[in-house]
Parts: sequence; C-alpha cells; structure tokens
Amino acid sequence: MIETNLHDNVLEIVITNPPVNALGADVRCALAAALADAQTNDAVKAIVIRGAGKIFSGGADITEFDGTMAEPGLPELVNMVEACTKPVVAAIHGSVLGGGLEISLGSHYRIAAPDAELGLPEVLLGIVPGAGGTQRLPRLIGAEAALNMIVSGSPVSATKAEKMGLVDRLATDAASLPGEAIAYARTLDAPRRTGERDATVDPAFFEKFLADNAGKKAYLDAQKGCVEAVRAATELPLDEGLVKEAALFTQLVSGEQSKALRHIFFAERKAAKVDGLPKDTQPRSIARVGVIGAGTMGGGISMNFLSAGIPVTIVETQQEALDRGTGIVRKNYEATAAKGRLTPEQVETAMSLLAPTLDFEALSECDLIIEAVYENMDLKKEIFGRLDTIAKPGAILASNTSFLDIDEMAAATKRPQDVLGLHFFSPANIMKLVEVVRGAQTAPDVLATGMAIARRIGKVPVVSGVCYGFIGNRMLNPRLDGAIDMLVEGATPEQVDRVSTELGLPMGPLQMLDLAGVDIGWHRDPTRIESVRDALNAAGRWGQKAKAGFYDYDERRRPAPSPAAAEIIDGFRAQAGVTPREISAEEIAVRTLYVMVNEGAKILEEDIAQRASDIDVVWNYGYGWPRHKGGPMFWADQMGLDKIVDALRRYADRLGPDFSLSPLLVRCAEQGAPLDK
Ligand code: 3HC
Repeated sequence: MIETNLHDNVLEIVITNPPVNALGADVRCALAAALADAQTNDAVKAIVIRGAGKIFSGGADITEFDGTMAEPGLPELVNMVEACTKPVVAAIHGSVLGGGLEISLGSHYRIAAPDAELGLPEVLLGIVPGAGGTQRLPRLIGAEAALNMIVSGSPVSATKAEKMGLVDRLATDAASLPGEAIAYARTLDAPRRTGERDATVDPAFFEKFLADNAGKKAYLDAQKGCVEAVRAATELPLDEGLVKEAALFTQLVSGEQSKALRHIFFAERKAAKVDGLPKDTQPRSIARVGVIGAGTMGGGISMNFLSAGIPVTIVETQQEALDRGTGIVRKNYEATAAKGRLTPEQVETAMSLLAPTLDFEALSECDLIIEAVYENMDLKKEIFGRLDTIAKPGAILASNTSFLDIDEMAAATKRPQDVLGLHFFSPANIMKLVEVVRGAQTAPDVLATGMAIARRIGKVPVVSGVCYGFIGNRMLNPRLDGAIDMLVEGATPEQVDRVSTELGLPMGPLQMLDLAGVDIGWHRDPTRIESVRDALNAAGRWGQKAKAGFYDYDERRRPAPSPAAAEIIDGFRAQAGVTPREISAEEIAVRTLYVMVNEGAKILEEDIAQRASDIDVVWNYGYGWPRHKGGPMFWADQMGLDKIVDALRRYADRLGPDFSLSPLLVRCAEQGAPLDK
C-alpha cells in the first residue's frame, strides 16, 4: 500500500496502490502509521509524499462511499499531514485528483512534474471535496479561483498551477521528480500550513456567482454545496469550516444525485469490458481506415480518426459528393479552429491524412473499413460482397448501420468472422457513444479491436448484440409508438414531451422525431393518410429541416407549440373517430418511459446488452439521459421495479397489441432484485 525509503534525513513515503493510487482504508492506515513514525523518529528531518506509477493519486476510493468509512478518514489523515511538525513536501505527477490533491494541500510544500493535472472533480460525482479541499484551496489560491476549479471539477495543468500559486515549483520531468523533491525537502526548515492562512474575498462574489449559475442545467446540489463550503472558508476558522464541509459531504454522498453519478462513473468503465473474451485476445493493429460514403455520417466518422492521427481513405461514387463531403470535413475543422480549439497547423495535419477517392480498390490498403451509406440492406450486402474481394486478409469490415442485421451483411462475405457493427451517433465527430455490434460469428479479436479503436479515438464503446435498432434505437420504438398514440387520444406534443424534458432529457420523443425527420420511412404519397405522421408529412411538416413538424421552429431551430400541427392532429383524430380525453402525466410516463425500461429488460434477457449499466451508458452518451439520474435502468431500480411493473399492468390495454411485459422485469420486481447487478 505504501513504501517508505529513508534518504539520509528525508523520509520518502510512496503510495503504491495500483491502478490509480486510490486512498482506500489500507492506504490511509499505512500513511497515518508512517507519518506517526516519522514524527517521533529523530533521524527524519523532512518528509516527501509521492505516488508510484503513472500518477500521484486518483483520490478517495469511490467504492467506499456506499458504506461507512473505516478510520482514519481522509479528512483526519490530511489534518495529520498538515499538523506534522516536520516539513512535508508533496511530489506530484500525472493525475492529482480529489483526495490526492487534498493530501497535497495538507502538505506544506508542493513540487509538480510538468505532466501533473491537479483537480477536485468531486462535483462530477455529486459531492463536495470532503477532505479539506474546499477549505484549503481558497486559502492557497483565493476563493474565486478555488470556487471556479471546484465547481467545474476540471483539472489545471502543472504550469497553470504554478502560476496560480497552487504548486511551489516545477520539476524537470516525472522521472526526476523523486530526486528533485528530496533535494527540495532538504532545503526546508519548518512546516508552512495552508490552514493557517486566511481566504479573503469580496463578499458580493458569492451572490453574483450564485445568480450567474442559477439557471444552468449542470448546476446540481453538489455545485450549490461547493459555494456554501467555499463561502465557509472565507468566513470561518479552518476547524469550523471543515465541520461545515464534512456535513455537506455526508449529506450529498447519500443523496440520489451522487449515487447516480457514481453509478455512471463505474458503468462507463465496466462498459469497456467484454465478457467472455479469451484472456489472451489481442486487438488487431489499425494503421489506415477506409470509410465508404462521404455523407454526414461518413464525414463525421472520418474526422474521429483524422483527429487521432489515423489516415483515412474515403470513397464515394460521384466526384461531386466526394468534394462536398471533404469540403464539409474541412469546414468543420476550420470552425473549430476559429473558436481557438485547434491551430491552423492541426487543421492541415488532419486534412493531410484524408485521402478522398472514387476508386473502391483503394480500400485494399485499409485495416478497418466502415461503410456509412444509407440504410438499405441490398446496397449494404452488395458493398460487403465487393469488400470481400478487395480488402486485405485480416482487414475488419464494419457497418455503421443504426438498425440493420449485421449477420446478414456478414453472410455476403466469406469472412463473417471479420465483420462487426460500429454504430456511431450523429454528429459522429462529436457524440461519444459507439455501439460495437457483435455478430454471431464476429471473432474475439475483431470485437476487441472495435472496442480498442473506439477508445483510441476518444469514444465510449458499448457492446451490443444483433437486433433491430441494437440497444439504443430499439428502446426508442415503444416510446415513440406510445407518444404518437397519445396524440391521437388527446394529448398535445408539449404534454407528451414535457414528461421527458422534466426528467432532464434534452428533448422528448416528438421533438426527437422532428430532429430525425418525421418523414423517415414515409411512403411519400400525400393522399395516403393512415397515421398522424402521414398527415403531418402530407402537409410538408417533415420536422426541423422543414422548420415544421410536431412543433414550429425558428431560425435557431427552437421549438414552439404549433397551431397548424394541432389542427392536423385534431383533423386526423376526428377522421379516425376518436373522442379526445385528458391524458395524465402518469400515463405519459408509463407509455414513454416505463415502456423503455421494459424494452431495456428484454434487451438484457436476450443478452443483447451485457449488463444493465451498459444500457445506461448508451442512454447517457447517445441520447443525453441526465447523468445525475444515472440512466433508464438505474432510474428504474431506484424507483422500484414493482412500481413500474404495476403501472405497466394497469395501463396494459393502452400499450398496443405488440406489448408484452419482460419476464426478467417481472421476476426482478417480484424478488425485489435490481436490474443492475
Ligand atoms: N476510486 C476507486 N476506483 C477508482 C478510482 C477511485 N477514485 N479512480 C479510478 N478507479 C478505478 C476505475 O474504476 C478502474 O477500475 P477497473 O479497472 O476495475 O475498471 C481503474 O481504477 C482505472 O481507472 P480508469 O480506467 O479511469 O483509468 P485512467 O487511467 O483512464 O484514468 C483517472 C485515471 C484520471 C484517475 C480516472 O480513473 C479518474 O478520473 N478517477 C476518478 C477521479 C475522481 O473522481 N477522484 C475524486 C474521488 S472523490 C474524493 O477524492 C473525495 C474526497 O474529496 C474525500
């Protein structure tokens, strides 16, 4: 857990708890014992604390937050560091996060390697820093800078930290940090305690900060707690401020928001793991990627690889489409550069890696080929058949389809083991989610490569089995059916969507259909009106692109209730002979949200998703499910599955002839067991 080395009169304490040197109970005990020893050992004149491996510390052990924490707690340990009568130097490198930074703040002096990233990301877990961070950081760098760091949760670089006064000096590099820290410690005569300083600030600052942030979506309980805690640092002596901080921490850590945020933290990491892969599975190496189709998806997908320095061959059938596609890629990069997030050189480097061509044969050089043409099985099968004759042995053949059968495409080749789905979400250069679709015959190393390459380009990959719509889009279907049926029965689009937006989703099912296109799958015969969608389409209300769908849209694509859409819906209802009725918010929740949970449970029992938390990750990163609500499966577990099953049963006669309860959902509800194991 720790190592200690005496270098003449400097005691070096090395935290050794891979992979992230989390400050769990064992580490805390060992550190406390080493500090107590050092205090009484006359041979020790100064102490250096550093971390073994690539980082100093990722902070408190988050897995401990669910139970009671063993003694000594992290706050006591940090107090002990600060109270030490011999100078303590924190020698920090890599990630220095949460409790890791708090140990450094308790230390009397700080030396950082240039690769150090210092931050208090606790808010991202729905808590305030709980080991003195809210009290000592303001005393060290001022309340304003401290609050900005604490509320954002974003780390600062070593250079910035030095400028802010957060570290005293920079080491040459991570390798020389230990030696330079020991040499530094030798020069120090006495402790210098941050807790003894004052944190002053203009008293009006906090009111202004609260007012500026009040309306922000990401401004949750934890952010409010941070303001309170930092304010306490400016008003109270350290010990009283620490008591305030501890109270806020204890209250938040057991709250729903923090539980959900912690769930998603671990869910995201679990999703990266593929169950049942042979242990020695090695991903194939990918040096060049091919993309078929230079449309919106093809271009966006290509940008991910270009930005990661991976060359891309992009193929189109017409020069005009190719030029348009590559032009959009360049325009997107230039827009990012104009915002100062890329240099002109970076734009040119990315573009120089793009090889546009009309020659399909050029794909023979690629190690991974992703088709991103429109959703038509015959076309996709033809492409896979052609790829089979061109691609080099061992090349991975992927489809970006959002719902079609990967196995059918694989069957068009003689190498189904090399085929998988890589379902990017639109806009593909921005959205983090990739569903990595495992076909019936996808080889383990092909799946592992899909996961690895997605991570390499900064995506969050989730494995899905083959089914119509995979994990995410499959769950959209029952909620969309419910939403549209309720319009016919008497609800307005606003009523239906509000239930989702009040939960925190960025848009409701009808707003989402407006975004995707009301006319998707439309037969294009305006005289044939068999559904509300047909009626809207016949009137040219195809969604956002027509500035008219279930809603009216302004220039900035903001929705407003639409009298014209209401008239069309009313007309269709009258024609269908339906008498409108009041539809309650509960019914809307059941028919748009609970049905999704039910579909998610089916996805689980059919082994389409590996685990419930993977479904939550899909909904977080693909559809904007609010992180502080964890994801649909976690949300359902928290609510109680019995309530969901009961409501679905009560409304069963309104859920359509295709609805059936998931046996897994019913079983879990009866046993009081969660979906997320
Ligand atoms: N506690 C427990 N486990 C942790 C952890 C932590 N603080 N940080 C990471 N882990 C685990 C991960 O779950 C993962 O486990 P797995 O291998 O079983 O999936 C493993 O360590 C490796 O993590 P990553 O895959 O995230 O490793 P990376 O190298 O990509 O990133 C990191 C390292 C930047 C440190 C990242 O893990 C991270 O951001 N960790 C969380 C940091 C954080 O939020 N710290 C604050 C903790 S709360 C706190 O300190 C409260 C205090 O104020 C009282």
